[in-house]
Amino acid sequence: MKDPKRYLITSALPYANGPLHLGHIAGAYLPADIYVRYLKLKGKDVVYICGSDEHGVPITLRARKEGVTPQDVVDKYHGMIKSAFDEFGIAFDIYHRTSDPVHHHTASEFFKTMHNKDEFIEKEEEQFFDEQEQQFLADRYIVGTCPKCGFEEAYGDQCEKCGTSLSPKELINPKSKLSGNVPILKTTKHWYLDLERYQGEWLEKWIDSHKSDWKSNVYGQCKSWLKAGLQPRAVTRDLDWGVPVPVKDADGKVLYVWFDAPIGYISATKAWAKEKGKNWKDYWQSEDSRLIHFIGKDNIVFHCLIFPSMLKAHGDYILPYNVPANEFLNLEGDKLSTSRNWAVWIHEYLQDFPDKQDVLRYTICANSPEQKDNDFTWKDFQTRNNSELVAIFGNFVNRTLVLTHKYYDGKVPERGDLNDFDKKTLDEIIVIKGNLEKSIENFRFREAVKIAMDLARLGNKFLADTEPWKLIKTDEDRVKTIMNISIQITAALSIIMEPFLPFTTEKLRSLLNIEKLDWELAGKYDLILAGHSINKASLLFDKIEDEEIEKQVQKLLDSKKANEMENHKAEPAKDNCTYDEFMKMDIRVGTILEAEQVPKTDKLLKLKIDTGIDQRTVVSGIAVDHKPEDIIGKQVSVLVNLEPRKIRGIESQGMILMAKDASGKLNFVIPDVKTNDGSGIK
Ligand code: MF3
Ligand code: ZN
Repeated sequence: MKDPKRYLITSALPYANGPLHLGHIAGAYLPADIYVRYLKLKGKDVVYICGSDEHGVPITLRARKEGVTPQDVVDKYHGMIKSAFDEFGIAFDIYHRTSDPVHHHTASEFFKTMHNKDEFIEKEEEQFFDEQEQQFLADRYIVGTCPKCGFEEAYGDQCEKCGTSLSPKELINPKSKLSGNVPILKTTKHWYLDLERYQGEWLEKWIDSHKSDWKSNVYGQCKSWLKAGLQPRAVTRDLDWGVPVPVKDADGKVLYVWFDAPIGYISATKAWAKEKGKNWKDYWQSEDSRLIHFIGKDNIVFHCLIFPSMLKAHGDYILPYNVPANEFLNLEGDKLSTSRNWAVWIHEYLQDFPDKQDVLRYTICANSPEQKDNDFTWKDFQTRNNSELVAIFGNFVNRTLVLTHKYYDGKVPERGDLNDFDKKTLDEIIVIKGNLEKSIENFRFREAVKIAMDLARLGNKFLADTEPWKLIKTDEDRVKTIMNISIQITAALSIIMEPFLPFTTEKLRSLLNIEKLDWELAGKYDLILAGHSINKASLLFDKIEDEEIEKQVQKLLDSKKANEMENHKAEPAKDNCTYDEFMKMDIRVGTILEAEQVPKTDKLLKLKIDTGIDQRTVVSGIAVDHKPEDIIGKQVSVLVNLEPRKIRGIESQGMILMAKDASGKLNFVIPDVKTNDGSGIK
């Protein structure tokens, strides 16, 4: 394939209704950022586009819940998301937003052009309507039971439990998310994209033509949609937040968010081009440009089937060259979830680890969910830092800089003749660079970052094999050559690592006292000339201690627990019992006299309790939440006429009453003031 003249790289526009987490970064942003930085180092003409997706029902729902306007919601999160990207080193050429007038105009014109070309099917259809709110219930305004998995809170467009795409009428027991009422059906007119026709005319053939150059997970998902047969899709909605439908008879209707959002890539390019004095059409409407969409797997159908259909139907536009979608990144073995608060939020990470962007970038890239879902764990984060960044990359650079200062006052020494091992080492840089190019150009970023680390390994091996610290006593000339070569490897590292670890390579350049170098220079024998002065050594990476990691894990568990408490739903009541049945139970106030762990168990405590009637032994499964020394002297409620039972060889003579909260914690049920032991509880 001939090299293109220009690259147009996009990352999915994040919804401006919540902060960014790890999963976003792993899916659509870090891989694109690495790719773009690489292309720029190679001197390519690249524009990297992103922005906030500010329409759609999740945003209006959140606004309603928080009692603010949708504009308030998107302003808040747009700002938050933009600065998180900035600080994390995701270097867009523009971060735009779909509430911008440029976008409204662009999306509106796009629709009009398609409308004038008669591309839409116009259809009247019955849709769910909330009579109380006087509103049609598009997408997430309607909830009900998923026909596939039985989940009761499935949305009108998707079941979040099993991931199935749905249409509102497939829901069992549909209910309005607004009033909770059962909706009625009412006729409304909408504009549909004729996907069925496109499939037959060109779309399926076009997808087939990418069988071998697109990732198999992407191609496979497209094929399964095509196999099921594409249906016409409505691209308008009865809503008041979005881009108004710009034709007659469309009052109170807006463009469907998935129609306007991808056009956001075009609007953003326009805004960027205007600022930079470029022509946006060069990027979007010229066959020698290459358009690549980076996304997560939940966006495949929109970027591979629907948006290309829009571009083609409109005419004038190029189609994506590739759509390297990632699978999902999990967190500590569990699916990332905003609603369950099971996430590492980027703005919080940046607060807790203000100068460690690259450690997270490195860990995410090394675990990138390219072919299948993958897992992020804090333990792995620590190991990647301590055993790889510190012990391999940081260590090599530090030894090179320290020795150069020690032996030559920081002046790069002249090198003598190169022996075969030297040449082999230096030539290996070229091999590594070549392999790295292949990996990045094929969107294999996990492999790429590993290869990049091989260069640091090469440097360490070179030092270990040549041992300049020993040789300095016997062969000073040879040491000059060794250190000169080590400096060249370090300089090559400052180039090769740049796409992955941009903060670190910036620091490395300042240690080496050099400017940013072109990609092609890596592997050059004289990247840094003899006599050049480098700056004092300082560490590129610091060790991360166990306590920091434990703190993060605890933070996750705490927030999950807080969330469970907040969302707790009481279980339905049990079947009735008679008054007599209840009166048969003899419950008394008692006091714990002694408490000890039952040997070889985690949960069980052996308690001695004064019940007012007697002193007796009760075995109780409360050890996870209560330490023996904390509960001695505490009053409890005891069921004293429960049949005695042997537990772990101990006879338990009764049961103490505990309340289990939403997180599973057991709390004592006790009188609110001190009450005589033996008092009956009725
Ligand atoms: N906001 C969407 C999401 O987070 C992605 C939109 S991508 C675009 O899933 F192409 F539509 F912009
Ligand atoms: Zn489901």
